[in-house]
Amino acid sequence: MAVGKKVLVSWDIPQIGIDMLEGAGLSTTVWKGEQPLSQSELIAMAQEHDALLSQSTDKLDEAFFEACGHLEVISQFSVGYDNINLAKAKACSIPFGNAPGAMTEATADIAFGLMIATSRKFFYMHKKIVAGEWKIQKPQAHLGLDLRGKTLGIFGLGKIGSEMARLCKVAYGMEILYTNRSEAPSIYEKDLQAHKVSFETLLEQSDVISVHAGLNAETRGIFDAKAFAQMKSTAIFINAARGGIHNEIDLIQALESGVIWGSGLDVTNPEPMQAENKLLSMETVCVLPHIGSATIGARNNMARMSAENIVSFYENGVLPYLVEY
Ligand code: DGY
Repeated sequence: MAVGKKVLVSWDIPQIGIDMLEGAGLSTTVWKGEQPLSQSELIAMAQEHDALLSQSTDKLDEAFFEACGHLEVISQFSVGYDNINLAKAKACSIPFGNAPGAMTEATADIAFGLMIATSRKFFYMHKKIVAGEWKIQKPQAHLGLDLRGKTLGIFGLGKIGSEMARLCKVAYGMEILYTNRSEAPSIYEKDLQAHKVSFETLLEQSDVISVHAGLNAETRGIFDAKAFAQMKSTAIFINAARGGIHNEIDLIQALESGVIWGSGLDVTNPEPMQAENKLLSMETVCVLPHIGSATIGARNNMARMSAENIVSFYENGVLPYLVEY
């Protein structure tokens, strides 16, 4: 029964999610501060609650579960869940859910936009105008890369990766290669005529590599100096998944030394990126502040799905978007 249960919403989410929780008879405490709760604040507030609607920035680690083993359910306002120690959640028998598919199009759009912006140096050229440096138009200056007919390498062909591949195929007739931990659903291969290849082949043959995998022990830091060295010197590296998948020092070196051509990042390592980061002044780099899911539609979907997990848990004992552990 939902009635009387108390849900801590660790940061303000779209009203649709709060309405769903309260409409089911749950009472909510919604943190509305400018900054997220620190871990000690989160732990202290969670003591008075039965359920948590968390953010991907909340640290749900061993210390959290030691102090919050009383929680009955946790649901996260994100698709990524590298912030939670699932083994500890399991040990405490706390089911955990997320919002898969809530931001597929929104995030693929960001990766696609970054690819175009990087290939034509959008952000750098914009800064030139702002600095009063748009004087003449030299025939050989600031040339970008062409994308039509090029090869796209998708690292992680799930929902978002396949939508990025679809956009690139429709817009530019790009050939699609991919690597995946598991078999990608055959519909992706058929519709996109995508070819599964080894990581090495993906690095060697792609003109654009776009990262769409989750952050885990296998993917952490996988795009390092060794990986960049295997890419084409004309390649563009896009990451709209998690910054921890690339080594940012190695990425800076690869760009500075011409090992690869450019990079478009919606996620950085670490986050937030500092204003003096060298990447921000490079001609062939475009960086955004992790806004992949920041559309009204996507954020409403995230609020709805993360609330649905908690409501359904109390009403039927199941989470529709359960993460298996
Ligand atoms: C997600 O949902 O994983 C987005 O990156 C926001 O954290």
